Amino acid sequence: MRKKIVAGNWKMNMDLSSGIELVRGIKGYFANKKPEAEIVLCTPYIHLALLKDILDGSSLKFGAQNCSSEPSGAYTGEISCGMIKSTGATYVIIGHSERRTYFGENDQLLNRKTKLAINTGLRVIFCCGEVLKEREKGIHFDVVKKQLEEGLFNLSETEICNVVIAYEPVWAIGTGLNATPGQAQEMHKFIRQLVTEKYGNKIAEETTILYGGSCKASNAAELFAMPDVDGGLIGGASLKKEEFCAIAEAAK
Ligand code: PGA
Repeated sequence: MRKKIVAGNWKMNMDLSSGIELVRGIKGYFANKKPEAEIVLCTPYIHLALLKDILDGSSLKFGAQNCSSEPSGAYTGEISCGMIKSTGATYVIIGHSERRTYFGENDQLLNRKTKLAINTGLRVIFCCGEVLKEREKGIHFDVVKKQLEEGLFNLSETEICNVVIAYEPVWAIGTGLNATPGQAQEMHKFIRQLVTEKYGNKIAEETTILYGGSCKASNAAELFAMPDVDGGLIGGASLKKEEFCAIAEAAK
């Protein structure tokens, strides 16, 4: 059976001490009750180096929100996959719509990052999703198909097994307006079908597909109840301990 995952995407929030406090809080919450879903905290880089020690003895995983497309060298300000891996992180988010929009990251670059991350030993949370105009035009399936074909579908079978796909309709990110469970299910089913066509049924059935976009404690259970929604990628609500823990518990 495929893994349920709830991942927090802190984005550019939390200074060092407030971030550490939040991690300790989430760890404490789950100290005596093991969550059914895998919980992943994708924090800013500044926290990563401390999390291995802080999370020692807990089942919580952690990861980065971006990585360099180059393995090492003279790239001032960049952080490599190897550096991320060396902190004990196991995940990296690649292709978030904010990276695509504000930093001009295109499908080719994202594909390069994805391959590098996987071959460095990281698991990738690969984001896809349409903007509002594309949904209104009825081309949201085509947009997501292209993002997956160009970003992921040249990966080998072994490589794709290290990818978690996150469907994040851009119009739902940070807007308070989440996709309905029906809209999420329809797209997740479509994505799983694409993975089936490319990699076969077994790999498709084992691929975790997360929903992201204004997911919160009050709507998580109904979204996660959909047969092809295997958990969530949580932005704003991952910054509040109680809210995030409640969402994590809704994935079963
Ligand atoms: P949101 O963000 O939960 O704040 O809508 C989700 C995301 O961008 O990953």
